[in-house]
Amino acid sequence: MESFYVTTPIFYINDVPSVGHVYPLTICDGLARLNRLRGKKTFFLTGLDENSVKTIAAAKKAGVESVQEYADEMAEKWVSTWRKLEYSNDDFIRTTQERHKSVVRDFFDKVYKKGDIYKGVYEGLYCEGCEAFVRESDLEDGNCALHLKPPKALKEQNYFFKLSKYQEQILEHIEKNPLFIQPASRRREIINFIKEGLDDTSISRPANGWGIPLPIDEKQVIWVWFDALINYLQPKEFWPADAHVVGKDIARFHCITWIGMLLSAAIELPKSILAHGFFTVNGQKMSKSLGNAIDPNYLAGKYGVDAIKYFVFREIPFGEDGDFSEKELKNRLNTELVANWSNLFYRSTSFGQKLFGKLPGPKAEGGEEKKLVAKIALTKAQVDELVDKNEFHHALEKIMELSSEGNKFFQDKKPWELRENAEDAVFYAVNVAANVSLLMAPFTPSASKTALDSLGVVNPPWGLAGTLFVKPGTPLAPVMLFKKI
Ligand code: ME8
Ligand code: MG
Repeated sequence: MESFYVTTPIFYINDVPSVGHVYPLTICDGLARLNRLRGKKTFFLTGLDENSVKTIAAAKKAGVESVQEYADEMAEKWVSTWRKLEYSNDDFIRTTQERHKSVVRDFFDKVYKKGDIYKGVYEGLYCEGCEAFVRESDLEDGNCALHLKPPKALKEQNYFFKLSKYQEQILEHIEKNPLFIQPASRRREIINFIKEGLDDTSISRPANGWGIPLPIDEKQVIWVWFDALINYLQPKEFWPADAHVVGKDIARFHCITWIGMLLSAAIELPKSILAHGFFTVNGQKMSKSLGNAIDPNYLAGKYGVDAIKYFVFREIPFGEDGDFSEKELKNRLNTELVANWSNLFYRSTSFGQKLFGKLPGPKAEGGEEKKLVAKIALTKAQVDELVDKNEFHHALEKIMELSSEGNKFFQDKKPWELRENAEDAVFYAVNVAANVSLLMAPFTPSASKTALDSLGVVNPPWGLAGTLFVKPGTPLAPVMLFKKI
């Protein structure tokens, strides 16, 4: 059986989740669900990056004495938010867990034995927001461009990883595999960055009572990025990952540092790195540190989980930035989910139920019907092609187009006036609605399940889409999939 393994970044716990973090979770959830529907053995991993110095500061600020206790409290908040959003992750990793620390120690051991670690002095700038050493050229007016804060000047005795040794191998791998980094614009940027020359990277910091001790020197802890990336190796039987979904802010760590680490440790490379853009608020990245974050729990309570997920896929072309606006979310919900899909589903099933109790068989197969049947098959093929290119917004556009066609077909038949058209109107419109529901299942899992269950189609395989899979005689029980807000 073919398998599929997808990961999100693991998040810092200095604050609670925001709608920004919902972005990668939703993309991974959709990819995982799509692959499960396609019959692949699927694993979806998310979790938390806890060994950061930010965690210590945040615990202090929150007045919690034990940093671990603070971490546990925060983890509970992240887990409960993701539960509320009904994500289908198969595991949730925390880097303070022993199972993770042990993989990190093994990994370090391999790289050390390879001779790729040496002691040196790091002198330069460190942004605690990024948890990374930064270059002068990355700054804007002396501030980190992402965190709008000045980095700290540091001079530390550290251990270094010979990243520069792998420069040519990393470049070659990226150039030989056009789909390794997506989208293409990000790939070009990474290639250019590598060509400027890679420096070795410091992989330890002075010990501060938190984090994973460096196995060869107890006065040091492993730099949080070196530690965090290794989380992806946890589900051993699924490695290599098919897709690391990450924000563009952390693409370099994944496309360069991580690849160098894996080459050094002689571990297979992931199949792809999909770098997404940001949700912005008035053009600025939505973030905890900038104070413009929106609580996903609030949104879920107000609009429902599916509306949020739909918006994530529908609003921004994958890889680009786009403004998050509650007004637009509401608009998409009301015009596309409610007025189009939900309307088609409800009117066709309730009309059918009133007249026939169950799905009638088709009578005619005239030009209009043939056109609609062809449209159903075409839409399935288009959706497959578009999702495989990560063009989710286009895939959803096609699905909504099919739904509109279904509504138009039903409307044109005027089954309330022309009784002889009623069987066909109901049979085909219900089948369009069912197809829309199945094609939507990776993106709006809850409403799709409600719709398909009500038609007695339980856990349908993806391959059913594109066909007239709701059979005559199926009992009809109309349900309202979405309510107008
Ligand atoms: O960087 N729009 O964690 P982090 C879209 N711990 N995505 C957003 C976003 C926004 N406004 N804000 C955040 C770290 N994200 C490291 C990762 S991985 C081995 C370690 C998402 O808590 C986006 O995916 O800062 C981004 O890359 C990630 O959150 C960063 O989360
Ligand atoms: Mg960040």
